[in-house]
Amino acid sequence: MCGIAGYAGSKQVTPVLIGSLKRMEYRGYDSAGIAIVNNGSIAVLKDSGRVDRIAEKISNRMTGGNLGIAHTRWATHGEVSQDNAHPHTSCNSEVAVVHNGIIENFQELVATLRAEGHHFRSQTDSEVIAHLLERSYQRLADPVKALQEALRELIGSYALVVVFHDRPDLMLGARKDAPLIVGVGNGENFIASDILAFIDHTDRVIFLEELEMVTVTSQSVELMKLDGTRIEREITHVAWEAADVSKEEFAHHTLKEIHEQTRSLRTALLQDEKSLDSFVSNIKNAKNLYITSCGSSFNIGLLLKHLLTKLCKIPAQAFVSSESDEYIDLMDRDTVVIAISQSGETADLLKAVSDARGRGAKVLSIVNSVGSTLSRKSSVNLYLNCGPEVGVAATKSFTSQLVLVYEVIFRIAGMHSKRNALRDVSSAIEQIFMQEEKIRSIAGVLKLFNDVYFIGRGPHYPIALEGALKLKELSYIHAEGMAAGELKHGTLALIDKGTPAVVINPHDETFNDTLSNASEMRARGATVVGISSINNELYDYWIPIPETDPFLQPILEVLPLQLLAYYTALERHNDPDHPRNLAKSVTVK
Ligand code: G6P
Repeated sequence: MCGIAGYAGSKQVTPVLIGSLKRMEYRGYDSAGIAIVNNGSIAVLKDSGRVDRIAEKISNRMTGGNLGIAHTRWATHGEVSQDNAHPHTSCNSEVAVVHNGIIENFQELVATLRAEGHHFRSQTDSEVIAHLLERSYQRLADPVKALQEALRELIGSYALVVVFHDRPDLMLGARKDAPLIVGVGNGENFIASDILAFIDHTDRVIFLEELEMVTVTSQSVELMKLDGTRIEREITHVAWEAADVSKEEFAHHTLKEIHEQTRSLRTALLQDEKSLDSFVSNIKNAKNLYITSCGSSFNIGLLLKHLLTKLCKIPAQAFVSSESDEYIDLMDRDTVVIAISQSGETADLLKAVSDARGRGAKVLSIVNSVGSTLSRKSSVNLYLNCGPEVGVAATKSFTSQLVLVYEVIFRIAGMHSKRNALRDVSSAIEQIFMQEEKIRSIAGVLKLFNDVYFIGRGPHYPIALEGALKLKELSYIHAEGMAAGELKHGTLALIDKGTPAVVINPHDETFNDTLSNASEMRARGATVVGISSINNELYDYWIPIPETDPFLQPILEVLPLQLLAYYTALERHNDPDHPRNLAKSVTVK
């Protein structure tokens, strides 16, 4: 959700933290701010609005200091306003805090602190941390002990970084149910909610585990449990580079990431054989098999369920992670849970995974972020290897997940020859990019409507869901993805003159039935966009997709849908990289 960052070093802190804010903007972009410790006091500048605008103010007004913290916000408690933006300070501005997570008992804590004379400036749950900390620091005069005492009062989740007015070379971090990572540099160190915040400076990281704290100065990083027990942990080198998060020649990260798929589909196949074998054998031996994920990753979960059931004859249940309660009691030591996630930090998913592990279930994950909480909670990981995904809407991570799903399915089903076809699919993608202008012109039609319907059958149904999700996220047009056969049971009533209907209809066993459904919509006035290797007179617009192995069509057919959503966003003058109200990594329930 929100992005947090801290820097301790010898450089001017402002430009470093502005760089971090820009890199973290995808985590939340309704407000931002920084706090700098300098000359015995803490200076704060924060505001609502986009990072670029706030960064300009910060650069002009905040100079000096080598230690500071920063935050980009995605509002949970309290409206989007300057007061509610982070960092938050205590009454006397002796401490400042940036926080990601939710303090569930903040109302009781605020009441107690108010009774003691504390004044609150914001409506956030986070401000309470600053007041608790100031109270403890004034009494104990020890930053570590003060933070430990403050943390004992908190119920809920947090990744936080705090600084003290009289400690110009010290910041403390702590985590519970939200990610926090230390970046280890030369004569400078960083803390952040994700690696991208400091990737221009270092690729050496230390991941904090649950209920751990860290003290960071320019020269040292000391890890401990919340009770103060010291911990030694190896530094991890991450493979990501600063170049991975630049837009290069593209107008937006989203477009760059859509185009990167020619490469990312190949790198998804670079898997550790042992992990693949173990993934496959765990699925084969499971007595109960569940799949859980959120958002676009859930659409992949549905496709995995379809393929396991239809091709491998292995029954599986797929559920959105926020609805895990329904299934948890059924899990036991013979259960395998497959968790799918780009970030590996989605709160609902992590809760489902923790609960499943609590019941003795084994967790296998398909995940992009190496070192993420999910990867560390899983027995076996398959990594997407698609590099950082900055656009809020999932694009390349979706198809990389899909490639891994096929890799696993083909192994389980013993369909080894299909794996060669999987290797070839990335070349076919180039042909879809040749349709980009055409897709852009169709976007010019979609932009005029309030509702768009996407239909598909079998493995194309989850792709229809994904097409609708992309369009909603990026263009803000209401869209619905449907199993094509369900249309006639209600939604057909909504089809009117001109209503756009995107029909996913590759040349496979679903072809004729889906075509009939397209015909039913056309007869009621729909404007039909056909996504297929074969044109048909029913299509007002045809987006051709190359004919590949029929099993692999979903990989190809989702690309035009991503481009359609992207260009519709542009047509409507939306910022596709930062869709309103959304965030890339949803670390709150
Ligand atoms: C957010 C993002 C989506 C993503 C979902 C799940 O809602 O905006 O693009 O699909 O989270 O994220 P995950 O990182 O778990 O795949």
